[in-house]
This record gives sequence, C-alpha cells and structure tokens, in this order.
Amino acid sequence: MGGDRVKVGIIGSQFQADIQVVSLKSMPHEAEVVAVASPTPGNAAQFGKKFGIPRVFTDYHEMLKERDIEMVSICAPNSLHAQMAKDIAAAGKHIVCEKPLAMTIAEGEEMIAAAKKHGVLLMYGEELFFTPKYLKAKEMADAGAFGKIHLVKQSEKHFGPHSPWFWDVNRSGGGALMDLGCHGIAFCYWFLGRSPIKTVYCQMGTYVHGDKTQAEDESLCILEFANGAMGLVEDSWARRGGMDDRIEVFGSQGVTYGNLHMGNALPTFSEHGYGYAVEKAPTTTGWTYPVFEELWNYGTPQELNHFARCARGKETPQATGEDGLVVMQALYAGYASAGEGRKITMPYEPPPSAKKPIDLWLHGPTRK
Ligand SMILES: NC(=O)c1ccc[n+]([C@@H]2O[C@H](COP(=O)([O-])OP(=O)(O)OC[C@H]3O[C@@H](n4cnc5c(N)ncnc54)[C@H](O)[C@@H]3O)[C@@H](O)[C@H]2O)c1
Repeated sequence: MGGDRVKVGIIGSQFQADIQVVSLKSMPHEAEVVAVASPTPGNAAQFGKKFGIPRVFTDYHEMLKERDIEMVSICAPNSLHAQMAKDIAAAGKHIVCEKPLAMTIAEGEEMIAAAKKHGVLLMYGEELFFTPKYLKAKEMADAGAFGKIHLVKQSEKHFGPHSPWFWDVNRSGGGALMDLGCHGIAFCYWFLGRSPIKTVYCQMGTYVHGDKTQAEDESLCILEFANGAMGLVEDSWARRGGMDDRIEVFGSQGVTYGNLHMGNALPTFSEHGYGYAVEKAPTTTGWTYPVFEELWNYGTPQELNHFARCARGKETPQATGEDGLVVMQALYAGYASAGEGRKITMPYEPPPSAKKPIDLWLHGPTRK
C-alpha cells in the first residue's frame, strides 16, 4: 500500500467508529485510520489495539494537533457534532460528520460556515446515497425506467438503539424520526434530484419504550416536494426482529422495491442458532435472514472511500453539510407538525424556545 493515503482520525470508539474503521480497511487504497480519540479511559487504547491504530487520545483536541491528519470523522453523540465540526475545521482538516448533522438548524449553519471559512470540506455521513441496491434504483429512475416518479418511500425500523445517549433527548435531539428519519428524508430528497421540500406532515408516538425515554418510538412522515412528488418516511424503534430497511419507488411507467437486508440474505432455519444474523437481531434460532457483506450493502465503505477521494480533490462530495441542513430543517418541521397536528409549510422557522427538534412535539398543543 502506498504511503500517500489520506490519514484519518476518528472521534468515538464504539458502534459507528467500529463500522467506519472496518469499512475503511475494506477499501484500503485511498485512506488509513491513524488515530482515534475517545474520552472513556482505556476505550481508545482498546479500539486502537483491536484495529492496529497507532495513535490514541482521550481528548480529541489533542488528536487535532497531529499535523499529518487530513480528515477527521465524528462518530460521537449528536449533541457534540457541532462543536467537534467547528474544532476540526479550525484545525484545517476535512470533516466527516455522521448523521444527523447537528441538534439545531443554527448549529448546522455554523458548521457549514466554519468549513467554508477554513477552506475544508464538510461531508455528511449519509450512506444511503452509496447503498448499492438503492443506488441501482436511482440509476434506473434517472434513466427514465419508471417514468415520472410521484412517490418515494423509505423506512428504517428496529427495536431501539444500542447506547443510552440515544434515549436521552438532550443528547440525541429526538427519537425514531431524528435517528432514523434523517436517513429517509435524505433518501427521498436525494432520490428526487434534491427537489426542495415544500411541506412536512408527521404523526408520532411513544408506544413501547415510555419507561426509558420521552422520545417517539414510532413516526410517520409525509413530505411534498417542489416537483410534485411525495415522500413517505416510516421509522420505528419499536420493531422486533432486528434491522429492517426498505424503499419503494412509484412512477407513471414503473415501480421498484428494495429490501436492504432480506433481499441480501439467506432465508435460514436453525434449531441451534449461529453467530450473527443482522444488526440488532435478538436471536439466530428459528427462521432468520442472515446477511452477508453487511457493511458493503449499507454503502459505508464506498461512502468513506469517496470522502477520502474528495479530501484529495479527486471527486466532489456527493453528501454534504448542505444536505444535512435540509434534513435538519425537515426534522424540525416534522416535530412541529406532530406537535401542532397540522401540515407545516417550508421554510419553517422554529421558535427560539425549541432547543432541539423534539421540543416542538413534547411541548406542542397536541400533547397538552
Ligand atoms: N450512519 C449510520 O447509519 C449510523 C449508525 C449508527 C450511528 N450513527 C451516528 O454516529 C454517531 C455516533 O453513534 P454511535 O452509534 O457510534 O454511538 P456510540 O454510543 O456507540 O458511540 C459514541 C462514541 O462517542 C464517544 N464520545 C462521547 N463523548 C465524547 C467526547 N466528548 N469526545 C469524543 N468522543 C466522545 C463515546 O466515548 C463513544 O465512543 C451518532 O451521531 C449516530 O447518530 C450513524
């Protein structure tokens, strides 16, 4: 491997950090992870040892002083994204920010401004833009396979997140819509050629996890786009059986359906069980649908490889801070819609009292 690969630092050492390192290692020609920063004593060291990452830090500010690091990826809780992105930009390094972009629209705007000011890229970790099956659907759509598209659906469902901070709305900003709907909103927007979002209508509720969170664990979100098409984004933290991620696309001359996991699985029955089926699946006994090449099918290796190429000016970012900001605006409108019980017309200006998207639902008239 040449010594001229993009040197990457990762902030965080748990779930998404793991996925990113494995992804980058699976496409090793453009980039190498040389450093990790994570505050819990011992975690970064353990992560570094597991993946052969030589430099480990408990304070990411120290990692940002490493001159040869060109790109830093934020795999930390949502409430920390904005400050981290601004610090990375000030250190003159390209930023990869995991979804959702930030906690507030203002934070997202500040992140974009900081990247511009310091002449670095702000790239948005939306792997659905790189998911091979969904990319194929978009290529067919763009080639006219389905005629004029009037409805795009995306749904992502599982039984709830793996880390406590997701359940704490002050650190996550919201529940299933914020965590998973950010993918679906981004997907519909991207699929429809970034046609502006005109209106947002949402209904949501907390059905099974009220004992541990204020956040919604089911959400239905309908988007209207300037080109006349509709988007339907369904998300759940209350779906048993492991991760489920699907799309449906309807046009005047055709239709396509994509089931990300079961479509790439081996329908399997086992009395004894086996090692691993799919993300968040609780069991491997009985009927299960083990995936193969899971990360590749998500698109994360392709996404990060692309971002590394962007850092060297070889490609132009296909998922940007601006995309993340459009999603943030729609998320705020979604929570406002659920809170007020009405369709919200964009652009929507949240009241200053909304410190995070879910405030608009938690304190909205429909909850009183
Ligand atoms: N693209 C996707 O599909 C996807 C999937 C999962 C998570 N994510 C996103 O990735 C981000 C991280 O989520 P996760 O699932 O890895 O969470 P996690 O809880 O598994 O890991 C969070 C990490 O952040 C670290 N951290 C906390 N405070 C920090 C600080 N002050 N400085 C540096 N590091 C700090 C923790 O130590 C931990 O290592 C979130 O924004 C989440 O929404 C994206």
